[in-house]
Amino acid sequence: MQEQLTHLRAEALAALEKVSNAKELEEWRIAYLGRKGQMTQVLRGLGALSPEDRRAAGAQSNELKALLEQRFAEREAALQAGSAEAIAASEAIDVTLPGRPVQIGRLHPITQVIREITGAFTAMGFQVVEGPEVEWDYYNFETLNIPKGHPARDMWDTMWIDQKNKDGERPLLLRTHTSPMQIRYMERHKPPVRVVVPGKVYRYEATDATHEWHFHQIEGLVVDKGVSFAQLKGTLEEFAKRLFGIERKVRFRCDYFPFVEPGAEMAIDWQGRWLEILGAGMVHPVVLKNMGCDPQVYSGFAFGMGVERIAMLKYGIDDIRHFYTNDLRFLKQF
Ligand code: FA5
Repeated sequence: MQEQLTHLRAEALAALEKVSNAKELEEWRIAYLGRKGQMTQVLRGLGALSPEDRRAAGAQSNELKALLEQRFAEREAALQAGSAEAIAASEAIDVTLPGRPVQIGRLHPITQVIREITGAFTAMGFQVVEGPEVEWDYYNFETLNIPKGHPARDMWDTMWIDQKNKDGERPLLLRTHTSPMQIRYMERHKPPVRVVVPGKVYRYEATDATHEWHFHQIEGLVVDKGVSFAQLKGTLEEFAKRLFGIERKVRFRCDYFPFVEPGAEMAIDWQGRWLEILGAGMVHPVVLKNMGCDPQVYSGFAFGMGVERIAMLKYGIDDIRHFYTNDLRFLKQF
Protein backbone atom coordinates (compact mmCIF):
# COMPACT_ATOMS: atom_id res chain seq x y z
CA MET A 1 0.00 0.00 0.00
CA GLN A 2 2.85 2.27 1.01
CA GLU A 3 4.51 1.65 -2.32
CA GLN A 4 1.27 2.23 -4.25
CA LEU A 5 0.81 5.63 -2.53
CA THR A 6 4.40 6.69 -3.27
CA HIS A 7 3.97 5.75 -6.91
CA LEU A 8 0.61 7.55 -7.17
CA ARG A 9 2.04 10.70 -5.62
CA ALA A 10 4.98 10.82 -8.04
CA GLU A 11 2.77 10.13 -11.05
CA ALA A 12 0.03 12.63 -10.14
CA LEU A 13 2.46 15.48 -9.39
CA ALA A 14 4.42 14.85 -12.59
CA ALA A 15 1.19 14.86 -14.60
CA LEU A 16 0.09 18.10 -12.92
CA GLU A 17 3.37 19.75 -13.96
CA LYS A 18 2.48 19.10 -17.61
CA VAL A 19 -0.98 20.63 -17.35
CA SER A 20 -1.06 23.84 -19.40
CA ASN A 21 -4.70 24.84 -19.66
CA ALA A 22 -8.07 24.62 -17.90
CA LYS A 23 -9.23 21.66 -19.98
CA GLU A 24 -6.17 19.56 -19.14
CA LEU A 25 -6.47 20.55 -15.50
CA GLU A 26 -10.03 19.26 -15.40
CA GLU A 27 -8.93 16.01 -17.03
CA TRP A 28 -6.23 15.68 -14.35
CA ARG A 29 -8.77 16.29 -11.58
CA ILE A 30 -11.06 13.61 -12.98
CA ALA A 31 -8.17 11.15 -13.38
CA TYR A 32 -6.83 11.56 -9.83
CA LEU A 33 -9.46 13.16 -7.60
CA GLY A 34 -12.69 12.35 -9.47
CA ARG A 35 -15.30 9.84 -8.29
CA LYS A 36 -13.69 7.12 -10.37
CA GLY A 37 -10.20 8.62 -10.07
CA GLN A 38 -7.11 6.87 -8.71
CA MET A 39 -7.17 8.52 -5.28
CA THR A 40 -10.75 7.46 -4.73
CA GLN A 41 -9.88 3.87 -5.78
CA VAL A 42 -7.10 3.81 -3.19
CA LEU A 43 -9.42 5.03 -0.43
CA ARG A 44 -12.02 2.46 -1.40
CA GLY A 45 -9.36 -0.28 -1.26
CA LEU A 46 -8.64 0.48 2.42
CA GLY A 47 -11.62 -1.61 3.46
CA ALA A 48 -9.85 -4.79 2.41
CA LEU A 49 -6.89 -4.18 4.81
CA SER A 50 -6.51 -5.43 8.36
CA PRO A 51 -7.51 -2.87 11.06
CA GLU A 52 -3.87 -1.97 11.93
CA ASP A 53 -2.77 -1.60 8.29
CA ARG A 54 -5.95 0.34 7.55
CA ARG A 55 -5.22 2.92 10.22
CA ALA A 56 -1.70 3.67 8.94
CA ALA A 57 -2.59 3.51 5.24
CA GLY A 58 -5.73 5.58 5.84
CA ALA A 59 -3.75 8.39 7.41
CA GLN A 60 -1.20 8.38 4.55
CA SER A 61 -3.96 8.25 1.92
CA ASN A 62 -5.80 11.22 3.45
CA GLU A 63 -2.52 13.13 3.57
CA LEU A 64 -1.88 12.43 -0.11
CA LYS A 65 -5.44 13.39 -1.04
CA ALA A 66 -5.09 16.70 0.81
CA LEU A 67 -1.76 17.33 -0.94
CA LEU A 68 -3.23 16.64 -4.38
CA GLU A 69 -6.19 18.92 -3.65
CA GLN A 70 -3.88 21.69 -2.53
CA ARG A 71 -1.65 21.36 -5.60
CA PHE A 72 -4.74 21.31 -7.79
CA ALA A 73 -5.98 24.60 -6.28
CA GLU A 74 -2.52 26.18 -6.71
CA ARG A 75 -2.32 25.10 -10.34
CA GLU A 76 -5.83 26.38 -11.02
CA ALA A 77 -4.97 29.80 -9.56
CA ALA A 78 -1.72 29.91 -11.55
CA LEU A 79 -3.53 29.09 -14.80
CA GLN A 80 -6.13 31.78 -14.19
CA ALA A 81 -3.46 34.37 -13.54
CA GLY A 82 -1.61 33.12 -16.62
CA SER A 83 -4.68 33.47 -18.81
CA ALA A 84 -5.18 37.05 -17.59
CA GLU A 85 -1.62 37.71 -18.72
CA ALA A 86 -2.39 35.99 -22.02
CA ILE A 87 -5.42 38.22 -22.53
CA ALA A 88 -3.41 41.32 -21.72
CA ALA A 89 -0.73 40.15 -24.17
CA SER A 90 -3.26 39.50 -26.92
CA GLU A 91 -4.76 42.94 -26.45
CA ALA A 92 -1.45 44.71 -26.66
CA ILE A 93 -0.94 46.69 -29.85
CA ASP A 94 1.46 45.13 -32.28
CA VAL A 95 2.89 48.15 -34.07
CA THR A 96 4.50 45.95 -36.71
CA LEU A 97 1.15 44.70 -38.07
CA PRO A 98 0.06 46.19 -41.41
CA GLY A 99 -2.87 48.65 -41.15
CA ARG A 100 -6.41 47.32 -41.67
CA PRO A 101 -9.36 49.41 -42.89
CA VAL A 102 -11.76 50.52 -40.15
CA GLN A 103 -15.23 48.98 -40.58
CA ILE A 104 -17.66 51.83 -40.96
CA GLY A 105 -21.36 51.92 -41.80
CA ARG A 106 -22.93 53.80 -44.66
CA LEU A 107 -25.98 55.91 -45.33
CA HIS A 108 -29.18 54.10 -46.26
CA PRO A 109 -29.80 54.31 -50.04
CA ILE A 110 -32.95 56.38 -49.41
CA THR A 111 -30.99 58.91 -47.34
CA GLN A 112 -28.41 59.08 -50.14
CA VAL A 113 -31.10 59.71 -52.76
CA ILE A 114 -32.83 62.33 -50.59
CA ARG A 115 -29.52 64.16 -50.33
CA GLU A 116 -28.96 63.94 -54.06
CA ILE A 117 -32.45 65.25 -54.87
CA THR A 118 -32.33 68.10 -52.36
CA GLY A 119 -28.82 68.87 -53.68
CA ALA A 120 -30.24 69.25 -57.22
CA PHE A 121 -32.83 71.70 -55.89
CA THR A 122 -30.54 73.71 -53.64
CA ALA A 123 -28.36 74.19 -56.72
CA MET A 124 -31.45 75.84 -58.28
CA GLY A 125 -31.88 78.17 -55.28
CA PHE A 126 -34.29 76.14 -53.11
CA GLN A 127 -34.08 75.90 -49.32
CA VAL A 128 -34.61 72.61 -47.44
CA VAL A 129 -37.14 72.50 -44.56
CA GLU A 130 -38.83 69.70 -42.62
CA GLY A 131 -42.22 69.22 -40.96
CA PRO A 132 -44.07 66.93 -38.55
CA GLU A 133 -45.08 63.36 -39.41
CA VAL A 134 -48.05 63.41 -37.03
CA GLU A 135 -50.27 66.03 -38.61
CA TRP A 136 -53.65 67.72 -38.20
CA ASP A 137 -56.45 66.91 -40.61
CA TYR A 138 -56.53 70.70 -41.02
CA TYR A 139 -53.12 70.81 -42.77
CA ASN A 140 -53.15 67.39 -44.43
CA PHE A 141 -56.58 67.88 -46.07
CA GLU A 142 -58.70 70.85 -45.02
CA THR A 143 -56.50 73.78 -46.04
CA LEU A 144 -55.33 71.92 -49.16
CA ASN A 145 -58.83 72.26 -50.57
CA ILE A 146 -59.86 68.73 -49.54
CA PRO A 147 -62.80 69.32 -47.15
CA LYS A 148 -64.51 66.52 -45.19
CA GLY A 149 -66.52 64.28 -47.46
CA HIS A 150 -64.50 65.30 -50.53
CA PRO A 151 -64.02 62.22 -52.75
CA ALA A 152 -60.31 63.07 -53.14
CA ARG A 153 -59.75 62.00 -49.54
CA ASP A 154 -60.12 58.44 -50.82
CA MET A 155 -56.86 58.89 -52.76
CA TRP A 156 -54.99 59.01 -49.48
CA ASP A 157 -56.05 56.05 -47.36
CA THR A 158 -55.23 57.44 -44.00
CA MET A 159 -53.87 56.13 -40.70
CA TRP A 160 -55.68 58.12 -38.03
CA ILE A 161 -54.42 58.74 -34.50
CA ASP A 162 -56.89 57.16 -32.10
CA GLN A 163 -57.77 60.33 -30.18
CA LYS A 164 -61.11 62.11 -30.50
CA ASN A 165 -61.89 65.80 -29.98
CA LYS A 166 -65.01 67.09 -28.20
CA ASP A 167 -67.03 66.72 -31.43
CA GLY A 168 -66.14 63.01 -31.59
CA GLU A 169 -63.81 63.53 -34.59
CA ARG A 170 -60.26 62.29 -34.93
CA PRO A 171 -58.31 65.42 -35.93
CA LEU A 172 -54.80 63.86 -35.92
CA LEU A 173 -53.29 61.52 -38.47
CA LEU A 174 -49.99 60.26 -39.88
CA ARG A 175 -49.43 62.60 -42.82
CA THR A 176 -50.28 60.96 -46.13
CA HIS A 177 -48.11 63.36 -48.12
CA THR A 178 -45.63 66.18 -47.52
CA SER A 179 -48.05 68.80 -48.96
CA PRO A 180 -49.24 70.00 -45.49
CA MET A 181 -45.89 71.77 -45.27
CA GLN A 182 -47.03 74.07 -48.11
CA ILE A 183 -49.46 75.74 -45.71
CA ARG A 184 -47.33 75.44 -42.59
CA TYR A 185 -44.37 77.10 -44.31
CA MET A 186 -46.46 79.93 -45.80
CA GLU A 187 -48.00 80.67 -42.38
CA ARG A 188 -44.58 81.89 -41.31
CA HIS A 189 -42.98 83.17 -44.51
CA LYS A 190 -43.79 85.73 -47.15
CA PRO A 191 -43.15 85.31 -50.90
CA PRO A 192 -40.81 84.95 -52.68
CA VAL A 193 -40.56 81.36 -51.45
CA ARG A 194 -38.64 78.43 -52.91
CA VAL A 195 -38.49 75.35 -50.66
CA VAL A 196 -38.21 71.57 -50.81
CA VAL A 197 -39.47 69.40 -47.93
CA PRO A 198 -38.16 65.84 -47.58
CA GLY A 199 -39.86 63.46 -45.12
CA LYS A 200 -41.71 60.29 -44.28
CA VAL A 201 -45.34 59.72 -45.21
CA TYR A 202 -47.78 56.92 -44.37
CA ARG A 203 -50.69 55.33 -46.21
CA TYR A 204 -52.99 52.53 -45.23
CA GLU A 205 -52.52 50.53 -48.39
CA ALA A 206 -51.45 47.07 -49.56
CA THR A 207 -47.79 46.71 -50.51
CA ASP A 208 -46.52 45.46 -53.86
CA ALA A 209 -43.42 45.94 -56.02
CA THR A 210 -44.06 49.70 -56.41
CA HIS A 211 -46.14 50.52 -53.29
CA GLU A 212 -45.12 50.68 -49.64
CA TRP A 213 -47.36 51.64 -46.70
CA HIS A 214 -44.57 53.91 -45.45
CA PHE A 215 -42.36 55.83 -47.86
CA HIS A 216 -40.65 59.17 -48.43
CA GLN A 217 -41.70 62.20 -50.41
CA ILE A 218 -40.06 65.46 -51.29
CA GLU A 219 -42.42 68.38 -51.61
CA GLY A 220 -41.52 71.46 -53.61
CA LEU A 221 -43.14 74.89 -53.39
CA VAL A 222 -42.46 78.12 -55.25
CA VAL A 223 -44.61 81.20 -54.63
CA ASP A 224 -43.89 84.62 -56.11
CA LYS A 225 -45.30 87.16 -58.52
CA GLY A 226 -45.52 85.85 -62.08
CA VAL A 227 -44.65 82.18 -61.45
CA SER A 228 -45.68 80.14 -64.51
CA PHE A 229 -46.40 76.56 -65.54
CA ALA A 230 -43.47 76.80 -67.96
CA GLN A 231 -41.19 77.42 -64.97
CA LEU A 232 -42.64 74.35 -63.22
CA LYS A 233 -41.91 72.19 -66.28
CA GLY A 234 -38.45 73.66 -66.70
CA THR A 235 -37.58 73.08 -63.04
CA LEU A 236 -38.73 69.45 -63.08
CA GLU A 237 -36.97 68.74 -66.38
CA GLU A 238 -33.76 70.18 -64.99
CA PHE A 239 -34.14 68.02 -61.86
CA ALA A 240 -34.71 64.88 -64.00
CA LYS A 241 -31.61 65.64 -66.10
CA ARG A 242 -29.47 66.09 -63.00
CA LEU A 243 -30.66 62.84 -61.46
CA PHE A 244 -31.07 60.50 -64.42
CA GLY A 245 -28.92 62.06 -67.14
CA ILE A 246 -30.05 63.81 -70.32
CA GLU A 247 -30.86 60.58 -72.20
CA ARG A 248 -33.63 59.34 -69.88
CA LYS A 249 -37.16 59.78 -71.25
CA VAL A 250 -39.61 61.88 -69.19
CA ARG A 251 -43.39 62.15 -69.66
CA PHE A 252 -45.79 64.87 -68.41
CA ARG A 253 -49.52 64.20 -68.34
CA CYS A 254 -52.54 65.99 -66.94
CA ASP A 255 -53.53 64.84 -63.49
CA TYR A 256 -55.93 65.95 -60.78
CA PHE A 257 -55.05 67.11 -57.27
CA PRO A 258 -57.53 69.35 -55.41
CA PHE A 259 -54.78 71.75 -54.33
CA VAL A 260 -53.45 72.57 -57.82
CA GLU A 261 -54.98 73.90 -61.02
CA PRO A 262 -53.93 72.82 -63.59
CA GLY A 263 -52.40 69.56 -62.29
CA ALA A 264 -49.85 67.22 -63.85
CA GLU A 265 -47.91 64.03 -63.18
CA MET A 266 -44.42 63.21 -64.31
CA ALA A 267 -43.32 59.69 -65.18
CA ILE A 268 -39.92 58.27 -66.11
CA ASP A 269 -39.11 55.39 -68.42
CA TRP A 270 -38.63 52.28 -66.21
CA GLN A 271 -37.77 48.96 -67.82
CA GLY A 272 -39.84 49.78 -70.90
CA ARG A 273 -42.83 51.21 -69.03
CA TRP A 274 -43.66 54.51 -67.37
CA LEU A 275 -43.24 54.84 -63.61
CA GLU A 276 -45.01 57.80 -62.07
CA ILE A 277 -42.65 59.65 -59.77
CA LEU A 278 -44.44 62.85 -58.92
CA GLY A 279 -47.58 64.94 -58.92
CA ALA A 280 -47.40 68.68 -59.58
CA GLY A 281 -49.29 71.76 -60.67
CA MET A 282 -50.01 75.44 -60.15
CA VAL A 283 -51.04 76.23 -56.58
CA HIS A 284 -54.87 76.45 -56.47
CA PRO A 285 -56.26 79.99 -55.77
CA VAL A 286 -58.13 78.64 -52.70
CA VAL A 287 -54.87 77.26 -51.33
CA LEU A 288 -53.06 80.54 -52.06
CA LYS A 289 -55.73 82.28 -49.96
CA ASN A 290 -55.26 79.71 -47.18
CA MET A 291 -51.56 80.59 -47.35
CA GLY A 292 -52.45 84.24 -46.82
CA CYS A 293 -51.50 85.25 -50.39
CA ASP A 294 -53.72 87.20 -52.79
CA PRO A 295 -54.18 84.99 -55.91
CA GLN A 296 -54.57 88.17 -58.00
CA VAL A 297 -51.02 89.18 -57.09
CA TYR A 298 -49.18 85.93 -56.48
CA SER A 299 -48.97 82.59 -58.20
CA GLY A 300 -47.00 79.47 -57.43
CA PHE A 301 -46.25 75.91 -58.36
CA ALA A 302 -45.88 72.80 -56.22
CA PHE A 303 -44.81 69.20 -56.68
CA GLY A 304 -44.54 66.08 -54.54
CA MET A 305 -42.26 63.21 -55.53
CA GLY A 306 -41.82 59.64 -54.28
CA VAL A 307 -38.20 59.08 -53.20
CA GLU A 308 -38.29 55.25 -53.24
CA ARG A 309 -39.61 55.27 -56.81
CA ILE A 310 -36.78 57.60 -57.86
CA ALA A 311 -34.20 55.37 -56.14
CA MET A 312 -35.66 52.36 -58.00
CA LEU A 313 -35.29 54.16 -61.32
CA LYS A 314 -31.80 55.34 -60.55
CA TYR A 315 -30.40 51.99 -59.47
CA GLY A 316 -32.57 49.58 -61.50
CA ILE A 317 -34.27 48.09 -58.40
CA ASP A 318 -37.30 45.99 -59.27
CA ASP A 319 -39.06 45.86 -55.88
CA ILE A 320 -39.63 48.74 -53.46
CA ARG A 321 -39.81 46.33 -50.50
CA HIS A 322 -36.03 45.72 -50.68
CA PHE A 323 -35.47 49.10 -49.02
CA TYR A 324 -36.99 48.09 -45.70
CA THR A 325 -36.10 44.42 -45.22
CA ASN A 326 -32.66 45.31 -43.83
CA ASP A 327 -30.85 42.72 -45.94
CA LEU A 328 -27.17 43.65 -45.80
CA ARG A 329 -26.53 41.99 -49.18
CA PHE A 330 -28.83 44.66 -50.64
CA LEU A 331 -27.78 47.61 -48.48
CA LYS A 332 -24.04 47.03 -49.01
CA GLN A 333 -24.41 47.67 -52.74
CA PHE A 334 -24.89 51.42 -52.21
C1 FA5 B 1 -49.37 63.33 -53.65
O1 FA5 B 1 -49.10 62.78 -52.62
C2 FA5 B 1 -49.45 64.81 -53.82
N1 FA5 B 1 -49.31 65.43 -52.51
C3 FA5 B 1 -48.35 65.30 -54.75
C4 FA5 B 1 -48.49 66.72 -55.18
C5 FA5 B 1 -47.81 67.70 -54.48
C6 FA5 B 1 -49.28 67.08 -56.27
C7 FA5 B 1 -47.92 69.02 -54.86
C8 FA5 B 1 -49.41 68.37 -56.64
C9 FA5 B 1 -48.71 69.35 -55.96
P1 FA5 B 1 -49.47 61.09 -55.01
O2 FA5 B 1 -50.43 60.41 -54.13
O3 FA5 B 1 -49.59 60.83 -56.47
O4 FA5 B 1 -49.57 62.66 -54.82
O5 FA5 B 1 -47.99 60.71 -54.54
C10 FA5 B 1 -46.86 61.39 -55.05
C11 FA5 B 1 -45.77 60.40 -55.40
O6 FA5 B 1 -45.48 59.59 -54.26
C12 FA5 B 1 -46.17 59.41 -56.48
O7 FA5 B 1 -45.93 59.95 -57.75
C13 FA5 B 1 -45.24 58.25 -56.20
O8 FA5 B 1 -43.96 58.50 -56.73
C14 FA5 B 1 -45.14 58.28 -54.71
N2 FA5 B 1 -46.05 57.28 -54.10
C15 FA5 B 1 -47.38 57.36 -53.93
N3 FA5 B 1 -47.86 56.29 -53.29
C16 FA5 B 1 -46.80 55.51 -53.03
C17 FA5 B 1 -46.62 54.25 -52.35
N4 FA5 B 1 -47.62 53.61 -51.80
N5 FA5 B 1 -45.36 53.74 -52.26
C18 FA5 B 1 -44.32 54.42 -52.79
N6 FA5 B 1 -44.41 55.59 -53.40
C19 FA5 B 1 -45.63 56.14 -53.54
